[in-house]
Amino acid sequence: MVTAVMVGAGNRGKDAYGAWAGEHKQKLQFVAVAEPQPERRNLFAEAHDIPPERCYKGWKDLFAAGKLADLCFVATQDRQHTAPALGALALGYHVLLEKPMAVTEQDCRRLVIASEEVGRQLRVAHVLRYTRFFSTIKEAIMKGLIGKIVNISHSENVSYWHFGHSYVRGNWRRAGEASPVVLAKTCHDLDLLYWLTGHPAVKVSSFGGLFFYRPEQAPPGATPRCLDGCPHLDTCQWSAPRLYLRAVPLLQVGTRSRRLHNRILTGAALRCPGLLRGLSRLYPPLKTLVNWDQWPVSTITDEPSSREAKLQALREGPYGRCVFFCDNDVNDHQVVSIEFAGGVTATLTLHGFASSEGRWIRIEGTGGTQR
Ligand SMILES: NC(=O)c1ccc[n+]([C@@H]2O[C@H](COP(=O)([O-])OP(=O)(O)OC[C@H]3O[C@@H](n4cnc5c(N)ncnc54)[C@H](O)[C@@H]3O)[C@@H](O)[C@H]2O)c1
Repeated sequence: MVTAVMVGAGNRGKDAYGAWAGEHKQKLQFVAVAEPQPERRNLFAEAHDIPPERCYKGWKDLFAAGKLADLCFVATQDRQHTAPALGALALGYHVLLEKPMAVTEQDCRRLVIASEEVGRQLRVAHVLRYTRFFSTIKEAIMKGLIGKIVNISHSENVSYWHFGHSYVRGNWRRAGEASPVVLAKTCHDLDLLYWLTGHPAVKVSSFGGLFFYRPEQAPPGATPRCLDGCPHLDTCQWSAPRLYLRAVPLLQVGTRSRRLHNRILTGAALRCPGLLRGLSRLYPPLKTLVNWDQWPVSTITDEPSSREAKLQALREGPYGRCVFFCDNDVNDHQVVSIEFAGGVTATLTLHGFASSEGRWIRIEGTGGTQR
């Protein structure tokens, strides 16, 4: 059993790591939480039976109490990683730090030096390494099934609605407030390329830009907010009610599921929501299909199952804005070319226009091709 403290009980802290701990109580137990937002702090404390004296308004207060557990999760926003991670290491915690590790090279180096000095583990949440898909590829490479790697082509195809949510309307829309998209999003992919080739990069070049999510691309008559009487409300694929109230893109993902019952239910929720609403009264688990309350809806309000709260968020908050009239500045497409030590080369492409989300990878080896 590992004991842990949580710094930042937001989307990742509460819904990813907190949820995992809830399902694996014999493996991980949270004993304290630091979170400035009272609702989030209370929800996390309730979920993990944390007593009030172990609930803190911020990481400084938490660390003032000394070392309370084995491990510290740092799940604050991109620009708030280094200070709490250094504080946790200084107290002797092992640290699981959300990606991106830090937003400057200097801070990355400070973190590594600090962890080496105190002899504690510093792990960055490059979670894709642990997926079945990428760990199977890694295993095949390690077994030599495709010989020596020569080249990798890798593409991160971010769906239009996910990109609109996170990188146009949301938390990672401005490089100076969060981090550039090549760090915020493709740090996972850059890490994978490094991990799969097994060599550090020696040469890198990169180009990108913000091509589409800008005012010049808005359709005629579009309004700054979707609910301001925009004439494109019913046809625009980025319409905020389409995503946050009706969950259309998420249900569409369900219609491509391998499981027949998922395809039937999500198809029915798209075509006849009234029927599904009626059925959900008889069978409550169906409620999520007619009133989506998970990510990304859980990001826009702390009451994601309340229609009123969602409407208010769309009328007043950042997620109700037209994707062509936001204050975003991060690239919506970018390419990176890398030469690794030993001569292996790789290219990475990121874009925010995919109809369905996913990564592609093609690895060329001296012993064949694995796709
Ligand atoms: N590993 C992945 O696949 C993955 C996926 C998504 C996001 N992330 C990363 O996870 C991090 C968190 O993202 P998120 O979506 O959970 O953000 P979030 O905004 O939902 O959560 C961050 C939380 O930190 C809290 N916080 C702010 N100041 C604090 C302080 N002084 N002490 C303690 N808590 C404080 C905020 O109130 C907030 O609740 C980001 O860096 C993001 O890039 C990683």
